[in-house]
Amino acid sequence: MPVVSLCSTKGGVGKTTLAICLASAAAQRGARVVILDADPNGHVRAWREAADREGRGGGVDVIAGVKEDTMQDRIAESLERYDLVLVDLEGAASKAVTYAIALSDMVVIPSGISGMDLQEVFRTQVEVRRAEKFVKHHIPARVIFTGMATIASRVAKHARQEVIDAGIPVFETETIRRPNAYQAMHFNGLTPLEPGGDPKAAAEINRALDEILAVITPADEVAA
Ligand SMILES: Nc1ncnc2c1ncn2[C@@H]1O[C@H](COP(=O)(O)OP(=O)(O)OP(=O)(O)O)[C@@H](O)[C@H]1O
Ligand SMILES: [Mg+2]
Repeated sequence: MPVVSLCSTKGGVGKTTLAICLASAAAQRGARVVILDADPNGHVRAWREAADREGRGGGVDVIAGVKEDTMQDRIAESLERYDLVLVDLEGAASKAVTYAIALSDMVVIPSGISGMDLQEVFRTQVEVRRAEKFVKHHIPARVIFTGMATIASRVAKHARQEVIDAGIPVFETETIRRPNAYQAMHFNGLTPLEPGGDPKAAAEINRALDEILAVITPADEVAA
């Protein structure tokens, strides 16, 4: 029953999109999954409403309006009822962000490849370190490059190396810039994982989910 937070101090890097897609992928695999919407802008709630209108988004529950004072309780309750708890955080540092990270089994940091993006990755890493000091244990954090140009560029390779050199592991999987697959979702509720969704986007999301599961699944369960 792991908790995975989508976190970056930078806005617009794909946290919410990824949270919804990963949740959808886990639900397609039969997991009971919930997204805690901890961004005051309520983008996950808006997706849930659109998906409800269109009869989509099956198997993904959403708990909206999670704030710093309710974060711990909502996570604890969700752990009782769900196989996977995803937390969609706002694009800034806050107490809610620190609490969510502290209670997470893994932090996923979406990022673009510009210098500004990387600066925010390192700022986010500072937030993870802060939370680690509270809980006195290591919290795995990993960067995923999102919205990439289709062809792997030199800049992308350089960005990847810079993050790795800073001691932060990077997902093998990158999400490609696919406006139809990832943007329409917020209006019509259709995630790439559902029938009628974009199969290439679905494949990359499934690969990202596999990478997450490899980090958060205890070794004895993998062996079983
Ligand atoms: N791989 C992608 N290809 C194309 N568009 C994308 C991709 N990933 C995300 N987007 C779009 O980029 C925009 C920002 O994404 P999203 O809202 O998921 O970011 P965020 O980090 O949650 O932002 P915020 O900090 O504002 O909450 C959205 O319009 C989304 O549809
Ligand atoms: Mg968001």
